[in-house]
Amino acid sequence: MEAFRRTPLLLSLLLSLLSTATATSFKPNISYYIDCGATKAIDFSNDSPPRIFKADDDSNLLSDNNSISLSNPNNSSTVSLYSTARASYSIFTYKFKMHPNTSNVLRLHFLPFSAPSHDLSTAKFSVHALNYILLDNFTVSDTASPTIKEFFLWTDSSDLEVQFIPQSKSIAFVSAIEAFIAPQEMLSDLNPTLIGDAAKPINGLLGNQVLETMYRVNMPGPLITPENGTLWRTWFTDDPYIYYADASNKTSVSTSLNYVPSLGSSEEIAPDAVYNSARIINVSDVQFISNPGFNINVTWGFRVDSGYQYLIRLHFCDIISETNSLDNGLVFTVYIMDYLALKNNLKISEHTTYPQEPFYIDFIAHVTSAQNITVSIGLDTTDSTKKNALLNGLEIFKVNNLTTNSRTLKKNHLAVILGATIGGVIVIALILSCIVVVSIKKQHQKHTPEVKETSHLLWSPMTGGVNSIDNSSKSGGATTIGASPRVDLGLLISFAQIKMATGNFDEKNLIGVGGFGKVYKGVLSNGIEVAVKRASSRSQQGFPEFQTEIEVLSQIRHRHLVSLIGYCDE
Ligand SMILES: *[C@@H]1O[C@H](CO)[C@@H](O)[C@H](O)[C@H]1NC(C)=O
Ligand SMILES: *[C@@H]1O[C@H](CO)[C@@H](O)[C@H](O)[C@H]1NC(C)=O
Ligand SMILES: *[C@@H]1O[C@H](CO)[C@@H](O)[C@H](O)[C@H]1NC(C)=O
Ligand SMILES: *[C@@H]1O[C@H](CO)[C@@H](O)[C@H](O)[C@H]1NC(C)=O
Ligand SMILES: *[C@@H]1O[C@H](CO)[C@@H](O)[C@H](O)[C@H]1NC(C)=O
Ligand SMILES: *[C@@H]1O[C@H](CO)[C@@H](O)[C@H](O)[C@H]1NC(C)=O
Ligand SMILES: *[C@@H]1O[C@H](CO)[C@@H](O)[C@H](O)[C@H]1NC(C)=O
Ligand SMILES: *[C@@H]1O[C@H](CO)[C@@H](O)[C@H](O)[C@H]1NC(C)=O
Ligand SMILES: *[C@@H]1O[C@H](CO)[C@@H](O)[C@H](O)[C@H]1NC(C)=O
Ligand SMILES: *[C@@H]1O[C@H](CO)[C@@H](O)[C@H](O)[C@H]1NC(C)=O
Ligand SMILES: *[C@@H]1O[C@H](CO)[C@@H](O)[C@H](O)[C@H]1NC(C)=O
Ligand SMILES: *[C@@H]1O[C@H](CO)[C@@H](O)[C@H](O)[C@H]1NC(C)=O
Repeated sequence: MEAFRRTPLLLSLLLSLLSTATATSFKPNISYYIDCGATKAIDFSNDSPPRIFKADDDSNLLSDNNSISLSNPNNSSTVSLYSTARASYSIFTYKFKMHPNTSNVLRLHFLPFSAPSHDLSTAKFSVHALNYILLDNFTVSDTASPTIKEFFLWTDSSDLEVQFIPQSKSIAFVSAIEAFIAPQEMLSDLNPTLIGDAAKPINGLLGNQVLETMYRVNMPGPLITPENGTLWRTWFTDDPYIYYADASNKTSVSTSLNYVPSLGSSEEIAPDAVYNSARIINVSDVQFISNPGFNINVTWGFRVDSGYQYLIRLHFCDIISETNSLDNGLVFTVYIMDYLALKNNLKISEHTTYPQEPFYIDFIAHVTSAQNITVSIGLDTTDSTKKNALLNGLEIFKVNNLTTNSRTLKKNHLAVILGATIGGVIVIALILSCIVVVSIKKQHQKHTPEVKETSHLLWSPMTGGVNSIDNSSKSGGATTIGASPRVDLGLLISFAQIKMATGNFDEKNLIGVGGFGKVYKGVLSNGIEVAVKRASSRSQQGFPEFQTEIEVLSQIRHRHLVSLIGYCDE
């Protein structure tokens, strides 16, 4: 009842601080909505706010020589935005002019169809932007409904170039593109809470990251579409993700919510329809009274790729308590991947000033091997008056650190080792992988982002013309060598032998350092002179790339090139 004891002065202050949500719909001052391959614009008057998707045909956004516009011959089946596509067997690029130093939303739409002599469902391609690999070796299998990929990209300069790079002999395509300035409060830095030991603080500001939206969910629903949400986003219902729906109840209110833009809540962060509905725990007072220790979790699971950091944003609005005061507001437990997400229970009153005030909390989790990110809410059993828990919405973003640069480094690196042999001396390369779980874990703490820069500097003086940006990204995207899960070439050499050969990796035997790790000179017990390349856990490259490299090298035989004589994987 605390809120009702406030003085009229405070109440009027309160009212002036609160946003009149529906009136202030965000309209980006720079935006591009492109219907790729189309010849005339499409009016999306039902979108909120309404917008027009322009044909890319005569826009000067597209630069290439060879791309084609394709139309779906089955004209009864598809939504008009998806009845055409831009496609090519060579690289094509869209160039957008944005603002310097802003975060932007980039949404790529794909709906494959079969046009005469071009079947888009077989397309395999990569998408690069701002030196990041947004989509790698990408295929779209769903021909029934569009696949939409959303990214947040920070532009230092005003240029945002989005490059579509088909794999050799394949076609690349895109159905529609949205690019617009993001509301800057969306990625403001609230110091995301780290989940578990493997999570590392993100490097720099949240807004500077390249994020890929993996999930955007409205608990418990309804579905929110570009027509009835904000920023033309889709929020899916949580039905496919909830583990035991019977453990929960759905609840919603129709009263207006108290956004406080100055405290970071707004309809752009998440719309009314997210905050005015929630999943709560299906528990009755009766259960509490008869069994005070009674507890139950409501859990959701979201499948993600391992080996990445994820930003997990949980949206809350206490719509079931009368006020947000400590006595009346909810207090409950939040778990992420079985970790207690917050040191203590989540107390709504510590995060809000007003009743029914939306807010969110950001978390960073590093997914090592688990395939699902699980999120649970549970009751606070320490106080019998705190009778429930709730979750209104959730977003999961993958923190993308896959740069085209790291691909370039790999190439330069090879070029240098291989180039070093030209001039008569035959050096035999021995590739050594020291992917030891223990050493990776130890080195995790030391993982620093500047490794990339340093190694680039070390290698670049010797690469002489091998890598113009275009070349490297082209070849990076066109890498089609499949990495098998396990290399088996009969070239296994023991770690002990390699330690012996290199004098236990004596620094005086160091002949190079690359994005991948260090290269040592060594002599095997049979007298063969070798170069030993040791993978570092700080490397930009992952194990699959390393395996690919071993496979490629093992197949190459050329008098100017070193050849692979073995590898170690201990
Ligand atoms: C457009 O919006 C961005 C961020 O929202 C802002 O930084 C910029 O000054 C605006 N530009 C104009 C011309 O209004
Ligand atoms: C088009 O092709 C010409 C000749 O091959 C080339 O010089 C030019 O850079 C190409 N333009 C684009 C935008 O790819
Ligand atoms: C496409 O539409 C036109 C006109 O509506 C119709 O004549 C034609 O048969 C349609 N083609 C297909 C493949 O459905
Ligand atoms: C046209 O679309 C309909 C409905 O999606 C589908 O059943 C039919 O197979 C399609 N026809 C062709 C030729 O692709
Ligand atoms: C962008 O931000 C950087 C770093 O804060 C600054 O040096 C640069 O001048 C800014 N660029 C523009 C165009 O504002
Ligand atoms: C938004 O529109 C979709 C249909 O396009 C509908 O299913 C959904 O219930 C609507 N959501 C809200 C919050 O109005
Ligand atoms: C992961 O979550 C999905 C729901 O998103 C669920 O169907 C699946 O069983 C979960 N997998 C595991 C291993 O828990
Ligand atoms: C809540 O639990 C009761 C049993 O305690 C069950 O009858 C009811 O169906 C559950 N509610 C929902 C929405 O699953
Ligand atoms: C959940 O719904 C069931 C009926 O399906 C009802 O008996 C129960 O009281 C509800 N629990 C809460 C906490 O609203
Ligand atoms: C709720 O989930 C957490 C984390 O997985 C677990 O430690 C706890 O035992 C669960 N509580 C109940 C009542 O299942
Ligand atoms: C690309 O995808 C195909 C299957 O879709 C796979 O066989 C191949 O290994 C992948 N290549 C790379 C470089 O990831
Ligand atoms: C990306 O980050 C993850 C987690 O921090 C790390 O394991 C991986 O090696 C990084 N990849 C690149 C290419 O930097």
